[in-house]
Amino acid sequence: RIPIWLDCDPGHDDAFAILLAAYHESLELLGVSTVYGNAPLSKTTSNALSVLKAVGKESTFVYPGSWRPFSRHTKHAPDIHGESGLDGTDLLPQPDRKPLRYCNAIKDMRDALMSRPPHTAWLVATGSLTNIALMFAVFPEVASHLKGLSIMGGAIGDGFTDVYMGPEYTDSVGRKHTRIGNTSPFAEFNICCDPDAARSIFTNPDLTPKTTLITLDLTHQVCATAEVRDMLLFSTVKQEPPTKLRRMFYELLMFFAKTYEAVFGLKDGPPLHDPLAVAVVLASMHGSLHSLFDDAKHERWNIDVVTEGEQAGRTRASPASEGVFIPRSVELKKFWDMIEDCMAKADHA
Ligand code: BDR
Ligand code: CA
Repeated sequence: RIPIWLDCDPGHDDAFAILLAAYHESLELLGVSTVYGNAPLSKTTSNALSVLKAVGKESTFVYPGSWRPFSRHTKHAPDIHGESGLDGTDLLPQPDRKPLRYCNAIKDMRDALMSRPPHTAWLVATGSLTNIALMFAVFPEVASHLKGLSIMGGAIGDGFTDVYMGPEYTDSVGRKHTRIGNTSPFAEFNICCDPDAARSIFTNPDLTPKTTLITLDLTHQVCATAEVRDMLLFSTVKQEPPTKLRRMFYELLMFFAKTYEAVFGLKDGPPLHDPLAVAVVLASMHGSLHSLFDDAKHERWNIDVVTEGEQAGRTRASPASEGVFIPRSVELKKFWDMIEDCMAKADHA
């Protein structure tokens, strides 16, 4: 099994990332760290504990990390995830344990990743990059030790895929811009929370060749439509009535769908961003990511993160042979089957 560490800010889609990381038979989940983001750190930490309890993986350790970025105000997303970060269901259990430690996530993350042989373990980040940037700054040896780094964050736009993010944006001096972000017209939430942290990751030459970036250009192709939601509620073998776990995830998806429609006018269902970053690790098992993600053009990209001004948090991509991989498309059926498979396993746990 591939050892992975998940750094997250649950978060409706992070909850699915936890499910996939905890239940896929090819993964060994070493630990979960939390970061401020969708909600304040105390809430994202409690949510991680609750989700692990709900899916029957209470023995997985949870380590709280940063409660704010280095040098900016903290952003949260109550309009999308509710005040708790995981609004929309009464079926989420209260955590009955505490995180393993307070405020030492980066040391524990480092120790867990370094405890595995070189070039075997993956780090997956589905929140702002503050924790992982700190870890690589304090413990630089982890970068060359890792097998891979998978990040959900950023938005490329400029025809990278044909995803539509909303009407053109006119800036303060009347220039028109194609909308590419979800937090500003230019920027995606995880990167926008801490652009300095993101820049430190994307300029680290020990990391970029082994990094895969899951951007909005891809995640907006992976919407939890009514059909997908029903499939996950009833399972492919049509159990009646649906289990409590399936109802909980269904209610979370319904809340997420409602906020995405209210905020972005998206009627097809919410993009399930974060579990795609876990799926990257699974796809890598087959020697390349091609089984799940398309890379026919063998493209690699340098990512320049805008850190100041109106476009702060923007991720600009330019071709670079040692750069990051950014999938442009995914095999949707394979992806949803993976989620369903893990849901079925958690149901029987
Ligand atoms: C990202 O932002 C968060 O709100 C989601 O959990 C996801 O990680 C999408 O932009
Ligand atoms: Ca997230």
